Amino acid sequence: MIEHFNYSYAYYEYYYTNKYLGNGVSSQTLIRSFTMEQNPVVEVKNVHKSFKSVHAVKGVNLSILPGHFIALLGPNGAGKTTLVEMIEGIQKPDRGEILLLGKKWSGNEEEIHRNIGISLQETRFVDKLTVGETLKLFASFYRLNNSRVTEIIELIELEEKRKAYVQNLSGGQRQRLALGIALLNKPRILLLDEPTTGLDPNARREVWAILKKLKEESKTSMILTTHYMEEAEQLCDYIIIIDKGRIIREGTLDQLLNHEINHKTIEFTLETTTATAELFIPCNFEIKYDDLSGKGSAYINNMETELPELLSYFRKKDLTLKNLECRKNTLDDLFTSLTGRHLNE
Ligand SMILES: Nc1ncnc2c1ncn2[C@@H]1O[C@H](COP(=O)(O)OP(=O)(O)O)[C@@H](O)[C@H]1O
Ligand SMILES: [Mg+2]
Repeated sequence: MIEHFNYSYAYYEYYYTNKYLGNGVSSQTLIRSFTMEQNPVVEVKNVHKSFKSVHAVKGVNLSILPGHFIALLGPNGAGKTTLVEMIEGIQKPDRGEILLLGKKWSGNEEEIHRNIGISLQETRFVDKLTVGETLKLFASFYRLNNSRVTEIIELIELEEKRKAYVQNLSGGQRQRLALGIALLNKPRILLLDEPTTGLDPNARREVWAILKKLKEESKTSMILTTHYMEEAEQLCDYIIIIDKGRIIREGTLDQLLNHEINHKTIEFTLETTTATAELFIPCNFEIKYDDLSGKGSAYINNMETELPELLSYFRKKDLTLKNLECRKNTLDDLFTSLTGRHLNE
């Protein structure tokens, strides 16, 4: 049983607290549940991958339990695709080990393929096939019949497009078709690489709706890569932030945002045009100010006590405000505080 606990402490703590203790479950049930369903469906152990001089993935460890949706959140070039393609068996790690359903890729290809669904960052379809024909073709690889094709077409809401050529689909419809293909074989593990990148907000929400429904109705586990913090927030139980090939922070949304020291951001614009960044150095707060745009941000913990203090500092320095806004920190704020960059840079 001990080896079942072989995943990161943060994830263990999250799972234990949320799934069991939070629901008032007795410790006996807890032990039973752990022995029954604790085996991770995906385990990545100290995995490295380089392309010539680029060290794309630098010693990543992660572990996913059944039914969990995990986000790999990071900017372009973070190593997300390389990592997810190693899990998918498309690329081989230089070092480390990857297990799916407890098995290595090598020697277990057929069994693993039966249990996973993949949607790549860019999916190429045969343009001269219709939606229905495309799904039928993929269904034939798994020896699935037409009724599964119909189920999938309903799930991805492409009934009206069943006879449309793939080349005439919108970006969102193509992504839904790619998702449909990945789901054909009712996979235990679903791996999605940037499923909504480049889609407009409506098309993005349609993809999210399908994934939310899947989470409610099935035991599928999912790893999704994205640089949209909203996507990770909306869909995933657990978020792994990756940058430059390394995991830099991980946890539930709540753990990531509320356990930071300064968890609220105040954004302000000054009317005063003569202010400079140096003006804010003696202040008690962590303030970033850009004298070109006149815009600044302050990071605080307690709005009731610290906001008045900040306002009196402005008054003392004769600074006039044009605008001030207080908001809860986001995952992008967290990323910026850790790296100095934004997620979408
Ligand atoms: N086939 C490749 N050859 C050379 N460099 C690569 C290759 N694939 C990825 N890289 C590099 O590895 C790093 C990580 O890339 P990638 O995994 O695609 O990141 P992400 O998916 O997070 O944008 C980048 O610096 C990228 O340029
Ligand atoms: Mg990528």
